[in-house]
Amino acid sequence: MVVAKKATSPAKHVRAKGTLGIDIGGSGIKGAPVNLHTGELLAERIRIPTPNPSRPEAVAKIVKQICDHFADLAEGPVGVTFPGVVTGGITRTAANVDKKWINLDADALFEHTTGRQFSVINDAQAAVMAEVRYGAGRNTDGMVLMLTFGTGIGSGLAYRGVSMPGVELGHITIDGVDAEVNASANAKDREGWTYKQWVKKVNTYLAHVETILWPDLIIVGGGVSEKADRWVPLLNTRAPVEVAQLTNEAGIVGAAIVAHQSSLSKSAPSKQ
Ligand code: BGC
Repeated sequence: MVVAKKATSPAKHVRAKGTLGIDIGGSGIKGAPVNLHTGELLAERIRIPTPNPSRPEAVAKIVKQICDHFADLAEGPVGVTFPGVVTGGITRTAANVDKKWINLDADALFEHTTGRQFSVINDAQAAVMAEVRYGAGRNTDGMVLMLTFGTGIGSGLAYRGVSMPGVELGHITIDGVDAEVNASANAKDREGWTYKQWVKKVNTYLAHVETILWPDLIIVGGGVSEKADRWVPLLNTRAPVEVAQLTNEAGIVGAAIVAHQSSLSKSAPSKQ
């Protein structure tokens, strides 16, 4: 089943080609071509449910389906987000997806399945890249920490517009418990907590995070940010907090940014 979602801008009159961004989540795989001049989608995004079990080959088939769907609107390199640690195109952890992803060369898997060039990065890292370029972080020059509250807790860090891989703050241990267990949006739903009850856990979590990092801005995202007025005013962080502006498009847009950047670096003459 393919569910089309409303695009930021209508595709009807658009002829330009974009860069394809694909966002792999625990429940859905979403993709759309992105206009990197504006950060807007060039066509309605498509969403296909994540296969269960979410084995690499099954996910790769869906990634190919999305590439084929947008073949006329986006050629060339493709960016993909993954809900786990990714270093150098290798997926290192798989907290909320099939364990077969651990230590898998995901760039190579997607390239083999589709014949296109791929850049796979962590979902929250993609989101921070999109937010600092086009969204809530675009006016902040210093350190921006993005935290996404969903099934897990994703974290991405950017400084002066540049992000780095391997920033994994969702699994820090608080009172002997993985932070995600108590402070993710999933925990709120699982326990039936009110926003007020849940935000206490989030404040404890953020206090720990702020002992390690001194960001100039914290951006909060994830599905729960759609009801931000219910909980964001209750946060008591040292850094100012902004709500993500690209909402559920941040992963797609960030993935497209990375695809574009890595195609530039791969085509640049070697310095050695
Ligand atoms: C993973 C992170 C990911 C986050 C959001 C966590 O469980 O460890 O890498 O960014 O979920 O998907």
